[in-house]
Amino acid sequence: MSPKLRLKLTRFAVRRLVAAFCVLTAPLAEIPVEPAKNPFAGDAWKLPEGQPAFRAAPGADLVTNNCLLCHSADYVATQPPLTRAQWQAGVEKMRGKFGAPIKTNDVPALVDYLTTNYGKN
Ligand code: HEC
Repeated sequence: MSPKLRLKLTRFAVRRLVAAFCVLTAPLAEIPVEPAKNPFAGDAWKLPEGQPAFRAAPGADLVTNNCLLCHSADYVATQPPLTRAQWQAGVEKMRGKFGAPIKTNDVPALVDYLTTNYGKN
């Protein structure tokens, strides 16, 4: 047998072996694996507590009536302590940008309440 022919036959045999290996092992890849267990399944879980109401203090009624129309009190409670000027700007933003129907005369009392209860002076 010529070396060339031997090489050809060897290659052929190797290819056959590889093909047979692939065909025989293919079903192994299909074996379903048990889904990973949820490591948190047993954990007790808790929703963050919301602030359903504004802090009880003088002016709370006014803020409740003017500020809960569109969103919860969390929007106020989750702000960092804001200065009077920042609360003033916030109330103006609600009126100007978002169309909150807040009377001009109520703005000072609203800003007072917000600064006292959710702000820093
Ligand atoms: C007409 C509807 C409306 C009213 C009334 C309203 N807001 Fe808002 N407010 C919005 C909207 C809209 C946003 C922005 C929501 C968002 O970004 O998800 C917002 C967001 C806020 C935020 C988050 C910071 C920011 O600027 O986005 C604060 C604080 C806030 N409002 C305070 C108030 C206060 C205090 C009042 C009452 C004086 C008030 N809102 C009344 C509509 C309103």
